[in-house]
Amino acid sequence: MVSRVIPVDEFDLVIFGGTGDLARRKILPGLYRRFCAGQMPETARIIGAARSEHDAEEFKSIVRAAIHEFAANHACDEQQIGAFLDRLDYVQIDARGEGGWKELKGMMREGVVKAFYFSVAPALFGDIAERLQSNGIADAESRIVVEKPFGRDLQSAKKLNADLAKHFHETQIYRIDHYLGKETVQNLMAVRFGNILFEPLWNSQYVDHIQITVAETVGVGGRGEYYDKSGAMRDMVQNHLMQLLCLIAMEPPSRFDPDAVRDEKLKVIRALEPIDHHHIVRGQYDAYEGEPSYREDAGDLRSRTESFIAMRCMISNWRWAGTPFYLRTGKKLKARNSEIAVVFKDAPHSIFGEEAGRHANVLSIRLQPNEGMTLKVTIKEPGPGGMRLIDVPLDMSFAEALGDDAEEITDAYERLIMDVIRGNQTLFMRGDEVEAAWAWTDPLIEGWEARADVPKPYEPGSSGPEDSMMMLHREGRRWREIKG
Ligand code: BG6
Repeated sequence: MVSRVIPVDEFDLVIFGGTGDLARRKILPGLYRRFCAGQMPETARIIGAARSEHDAEEFKSIVRAAIHEFAANHACDEQQIGAFLDRLDYVQIDARGEGGWKELKGMMREGVVKAFYFSVAPALFGDIAERLQSNGIADAESRIVVEKPFGRDLQSAKKLNADLAKHFHETQIYRIDHYLGKETVQNLMAVRFGNILFEPLWNSQYVDHIQITVAETVGVGGRGEYYDKSGAMRDMVQNHLMQLLCLIAMEPPSRFDPDAVRDEKLKVIRALEPIDHHHIVRGQYDAYEGEPSYREDAGDLRSRTESFIAMRCMISNWRWAGTPFYLRTGKKLKARNSEIAVVFKDAPHSIFGEEAGRHANVLSIRLQPNEGMTLKVTIKEPGPGGMRLIDVPLDMSFAEALGDDAEEITDAYERLIMDVIRGNQTLFMRGDEVEAAWAWTDPLIEGWEARADVPKPYEPGSSGPEDSMMMLHREGRRWREIKG
């Protein structure tokens, strides 16, 4: 199988926060990989813009080091790195002042796609957007890319949207949720809408419940100060898990185009029911074998911020009424494992009698690691001894199925940046989607704040607090095992 790499148009990409953590870890190594894949035109230009004083050569050596560190498993050929670095330039800029803007204007070319990546604190979004316009740097075709967190509640998200809308049209704004750029997340749509097999069963008549798990083994050490103001709800659920939920639950869009897809996702968010506190479990990891607890990592021994959350969501519409969606995510759990499991109902009647036991089909979609899909089906246990039933997996690992091409599975960021250059907004969040997500999230957060709820402690390396298991047990269900 030969993968097709379709080069994008010529572009000038300016990365504000060009020397920052995200730029060094993800954006620049991702662009380098696209360059090596032949997707970036020879003439493409990438301009780092940041407050620190550097010249272009210093910026290039920062990027060279970042490629060695963060694109290490990619063939790092010095000649290719050199050719990529030739595409780079740097401007020292003052986001809130006048310094650097004229120089930036002088660097930009006419007649190419102009994209501006705001890899900076959201507080600077409005200032940068305004200066791009007042200095005549952006035009009606230019695109801006903004990172999460997109607000911390509905009010702040509305303000950010309004600030950007003063200077850019919605069709120019690309709000990144990197989960939408993950290969398997897009595969969700291919599986659902490219096969006739699943769609007839994809509703509350046949689906008992759905589990979405995003488990991480890392703690919050190093970014405790930021994280403690967010918690798992704002950091992961309001964006990443909500996007996964939308893709799983939405109606088939009429076309795979930006507004058709985003309209359907928005309907799901708007149909989410409020959740009462019996269906939310928040947790905080404890100290363990000399490793700090969440509260120590956060630098606040009385912190009430959650590093784990599990919740039961219900969607009020014809397709899903009565089918729970269980979401959970947390830090310092047993394994790094993200999956979506669609647990079907038992067959309505067993012709094999009571002793055959109960067998439900489960479709599990593994997002990471080892991306793939498994369908648990029931078969007869081989050998003599009557009709005994067992469950076996129909397993598909994308790495195995795609052979050499699996190497080509691109990182979420690089795929999304190429979509920006192509002008395709399908995998980006629209302003109304983000606001609807906050409108649903805000009362839940306000609820536990008003109750002065204290998160339940859990042991690092576990599956989260006991109460999260109990939440499902009460309903005769159990979480799937978190395994790496
Ligand atoms: C980020 C969160 O958006 O996603 C982090 O801020 C989290 O807390 C990360 O660790 C997880 O991303 P991934 O791609 O490693 O699953």
